[in-house]
Amino acid sequence: MASEVKTVGRILPAPENFVDSELAHEITTQGLNESRRGFLLKSFAAASAALASSAAAAETIGKKVLGGDPNILTLPEHSTTLGKPVVTNPYGMPSRFEANLQRRESPGLTRVSAASVSFAPLQGLFGIITPSGLHFERHHQGWHDIDPAQHRFMINGLVKNPKVYTMDDLMRLPSVSRMHFIECGANTAMEWGNVAVPTVQYSHGMLSCSEFTGVPLSVLLEDCGYDKKNGKYLLAEGGDGSSMTRTISIDRALDDVIVAWGMNGEMLRPENGYPLRLVVPGVQGVSWVKWLRRIEVGDKPYGTKDEAIHYIDVMPNGQYRQYTSIQECKSVITSPSAGQMLLDKGFYNITGLAWSGRGKIKRVDVSADGGKNWRTARLETPVLSKCLTRFNIDWVWDGSPAILQSRAIDETDYVQPRINELREVRGTRSIYHNNAIQSWKVAESGELSNVQVY
Ligand code: MTE
Repeated sequence: MASEVKTVGRILPAPENFVDSELAHEITTQGLNESRRGFLLKSFAAASAALASSAAAAETIGKKVLGGDPNILTLPEHSTTLGKPVVTNPYGMPSRFEANLQRRESPGLTRVSAASVSFAPLQGLFGIITPSGLHFERHHQGWHDIDPAQHRFMINGLVKNPKVYTMDDLMRLPSVSRMHFIECGANTAMEWGNVAVPTVQYSHGMLSCSEFTGVPLSVLLEDCGYDKKNGKYLLAEGGDGSSMTRTISIDRALDDVIVAWGMNGEMLRPENGYPLRLVVPGVQGVSWVKWLRRIEVGDKPYGTKDEAIHYIDVMPNGQYRQYTSIQECKSVITSPSAGQMLLDKGFYNITGLAWSGRGKIKRVDVSADGGKNWRTARLETPVLSKCLTRFNIDWVWDGSPAILQSRAIDETDYVQPRINELREVRGTRSIYHNNAIQSWKVAESGELSNVQVY
């Protein structure tokens, strides 16, 4: 049966007849030369005739294979008409049929003026790279589209030669391109309070992964002659109205931090910090300062407003855990996931994402019975450090209730905890840094919902 279907695929090629190498010469400023237009129409008619005979073959096979599905038996309009020319969309956009796949604001989170968040639609994404237009957004005071010609970046503090760079200055320097995830420290925050948000988009969608391009911060620090004896910390400052400022240790800065202008092969999107942002691999999103305008070298942590009240965890003894910057190992099944529905019993591919701020993912286990039994999932390549890793595993649903979970283990052998294990250490007053195992319940009806399993 499979080989017959393949045959159908081969005898219904894209009608190559009307791809004419000379066509380019025939197009004038007035349009296409009339006699050539006649020829092309004839070629097109011939191509359609060829398609019609293919349709006859399709009918025979289609009846046998697909029980007479009209979508294979009848030639659709797009197979018998001329398509749109190139450059209809000078910047390519997704199909209109994909319009539902969007970043969305959470119905549960109040929007305070421009201080807002939009979540990436993880349930509809493949592989590990987040399309730039679907990268989540988190702004403390809204976003700006800054003129790169006017943008300046300064390094000052404990340095021999304080410098102000233009974008041109920066883009002449040796650059690197690296794939990394970025996760907001507040991702999955609602689950601390057992608020079962409806879909993985809202529970885990403050997570994205891109290829970032820029100059290693170590190159710039050397360029300015930073004080190697006393320079222990940096302050990174953003150019928006929130005056976003974060402390970063010099060790981390010299390790793998990038001053980036590129994202997925093009300039950063304005919402994600155009023209310049800090990329701090493995560290919570708030340190990835956008619209980066200044780095100061100092000898102690700066303890800024953004570090004193935000992104810190209240521990059971009432003390605050500060500078908890690394995003610990975590994973989530993205499909099937809450809000989706299994239409039938039988085979499903369970797929999801795993990541760790401490390096590579070593293994992901998947359970279909709420954590009693686990099977090891396939990790898809590439498996990179501080980057999303895609996992897949086969599953046959027998129609009875199930609870789907994934559990990631990173190269340090840290195992993603259950929510009650996390609560034992961290108490119940945290908002941030929830990396617990996520549970999706499959009802007999096939409906999936967000539940907590202890
Ligand atoms: N940088 C500036 N200048 N202003 C901001 O509001 N938000 C931070 C960080 N950098 C922010 C910022 C937070 S809290 C996060 S999670 C990430 O940017 C989000 O990056 P994204 O919008 O590109 O996803």
